Amino acid sequence: MIGIGSDHGGFELKQEILALLKENGFEYKDFGCYDESSIDYPDVAKPVAKAVLDGTIGKGILICGTGIGISITANKFKGIRCALCSDHFSAVATREHNDANILALGGRNIGPEVAKDIVMAFLTTEFSNDERHKRRINKIEN
Ligand code: RB5
Repeated sequence: MIGIGSDHGGFELKQEILALLKENGFEYKDFGCYDESSIDYPDVAKPVAKAVLDGTIGKGILICGTGIGISITANKFKGIRCALCSDHFSAVATREHNDANILALGGRNIGPEVAKDIVMAFLTTEFSNDERHKRRINKIEN
């Protein structure tokens, strides 16, 4: 199950990503927002981060205007590894190396096609399970 959430700055891109998830048969839960009224991104980052931590969802996608505020917030939760990506390579690398469990995107700084490519790369790339990457992740957690 994928959890997805945005503030107003990411709302339009979230609609595109929801369609992508649907087209590709991913089960998802939409944590809002549900229109373009102004909201505070921490109010969406928190329930998505908590859902990852309690196992309700396997991975999360968070979108704000830049992706910055919402990723900073998500990374305040111990056990969350939220990666703000604006390119394909980073999306693959953060799954293989960091075992990132949340992807953050900016709705105002990348186009929808680039964003969709990043989402697919993030969702279809497995963690490498390499010992050196596990060691580094353990150091983050500790
Ligand atoms: C909202 O205007 C904007 O500040 C927010 O979406 C995000 O870009 C914050 O990092």
